[in-house]
Amino acid sequence: MNKKIESLQQKQDQALLGGGEIRIASQHKKGKLTARERLHFLLDEGSFEEIGMLVTHRSTDFGMEKERYSGDGVVTGYGTVSGRLVYVFSQDFTVFGGSLSETHAEKICKIMDLAMKNGAPVIGLNDSGGARIQEGVVSLGGYADIFYRNTMASGVVPQISAIMGPCAGGAVYSPAITDFVLMVENTSYMFVTGPNVVKTVTHEEVTSEELGGASTHATKSGVTHFACSNEIEAINHVKQLLSYMPQNCEEQTPAFHYEISDELRPNLNEIMPENNSQPYDIREVIQEVIDQDSFLEVHKDFAENIVVGFARLAGRSIGIVANQPIYLAGVLDIHSSTKAARFVRFCDSFNIPLLVFEDVPGFLPGTDQEWNAIITNGAKLLYAFCEATVPRITVITRKAYGGAYDVMNSKHIGADMNYAWPTAEIAVMGAKGAAEIIFKKEISTADDSNAKWLEKEKEYSDIFANPYRAAERGFIDEVIEPAETRKKLIKAFKMLENKVVNNPRKKHGNIPL
Ligand code: HXC
Repeated sequence: MNKKIESLQQKQDQALLGGGEIRIASQHKKGKLTARERLHFLLDEGSFEEIGMLVTHRSTDFGMEKERYSGDGVVTGYGTVSGRLVYVFSQDFTVFGGSLSETHAEKICKIMDLAMKNGAPVIGLNDSGGARIQEGVVSLGGYADIFYRNTMASGVVPQISAIMGPCAGGAVYSPAITDFVLMVENTSYMFVTGPNVVKTVTHEEVTSEELGGASTHATKSGVTHFACSNEIEAINHVKQLLSYMPQNCEEQTPAFHYEISDELRPNLNEIMPENNSQPYDIREVIQEVIDQDSFLEVHKDFAENIVVGFARLAGRSIGIVANQPIYLAGVLDIHSSTKAARFVRFCDSFNIPLLVFEDVPGFLPGTDQEWNAIITNGAKLLYAFCEATVPRITVITRKAYGGAYDVMNSKHIGADMNYAWPTAEIAVMGAKGAAEIIFKKEISTADDSNAKWLEKEKEYSDIFANPYRAAERGFIDEVIEPAETRKKLIKAFKMLENKVVNNPRKKHGNIPL
């Protein structure tokens, strides 16, 4: 018996070494952690249970039968993060560059199947040279098996992808289907075709980092939600993200301890500039309203004219969507619409109530926006809000103009409570533009046209640049002093705690993609 146990231990020790000490040293030299070290930092101490440690590939082409490593380039299993169950896979670059073989894919599929049956998140730590070249189409099939499961799991259990090395070719599509992507600066990249192919096809000279590094995807494409300066930071972000989420779509979000105190926030009365075209940072409003230090901004450097992220209010998770006046005056454009739409849909999938701060002058005009389909893309945000059934509250801080008023979680599209500050301006458009259109004839025939413009602008502004017309109609439930915002929101979200809405039965909707 002892011999047999010894033999088991030898096999386990061998598996722990992955592709061997030299390759582990090479991984460290690149500033990267190994697959197992990453899991060590991610999971609660002692909680990891490995599944499939002794799996090896079945390939015999190109002399592959002589080179087998236990685990076959991916460490899979389950453990806990802050005491809550998660399923994990962590690709091991020291084994065939973490490339995906048939058995490697089977291991990932196995834990995804378990995650679905048991209702817990899947976290993938990606570090892979892509399809195992020696296995050909079998490897491609393995990828497709994963993509299929990613799609089936979407909206059922949260899925998070941390990219900690190469992720190229079709392999990028698994992370792209998952809910959140995190990348590490300088050591990770994602692209469909690498710099060499790009050079051949388009004659562009570009480095891997420029083409698909963390900064590129965090700012230009929006493919990654977080660009982290190192792997530990990325892992900590994964843990923080999980803290806002339920385990699956049937559960409620975790509640954190919260002491009731004075909920008035007098600073909010001072935040709005006197001049309505003067910007202010909506993040300051968010910070005043939410529980201290509870904000995790998502997609921080992408489409900065809208701010989205998770926070806690009286200990409960909320998702925040807020126009950002300091960037392009908070206008809605293609990128901000798609960014917010995806976030809204995530929150709705996982029972995270939505809070919207609105200060939006409208949709961005111009050929660039029109020709790149602001119509279809703006409609995504509209659609996302319309179909969301979680508790939904809007606070209009200042401008709510035009179609953007409707889109930004208005009462008409299903918001539960709509508040406005006294500084709110709810109208078809700004007073100047409105006066120019409706009083054009009257003014062009006047002797003192300048004074007349101003007079008409003021007239329009007096009538519409306030929240009271909307409040008279009940489109706004209450006009509130800014200092009261937190207090009101805590009460309203509590009141909406048991909200049930059943949208019409259908196979699935057809969001304008
Ligand atoms: C098998 C691979 C491999 C792969 C790397 N290796 N990629 N083995 N299949 N796809 C092995 C190498 O042979 C080497 O083995 C070890 O991993 C480390 O690779 P290096 O090249 O030494 O490392 P590095 O210099 O860091 O370069 C990493 C790399 C490069 C950029 C990922 O290896 C590379 O370009 N690999 C090929 C990438 C690729 O074209 N993949 C297919 C993409 S298409 P030893 O024994 O020396 O340690 C694809 C389609 C998916 O993935 C479609 C899904 C629908």
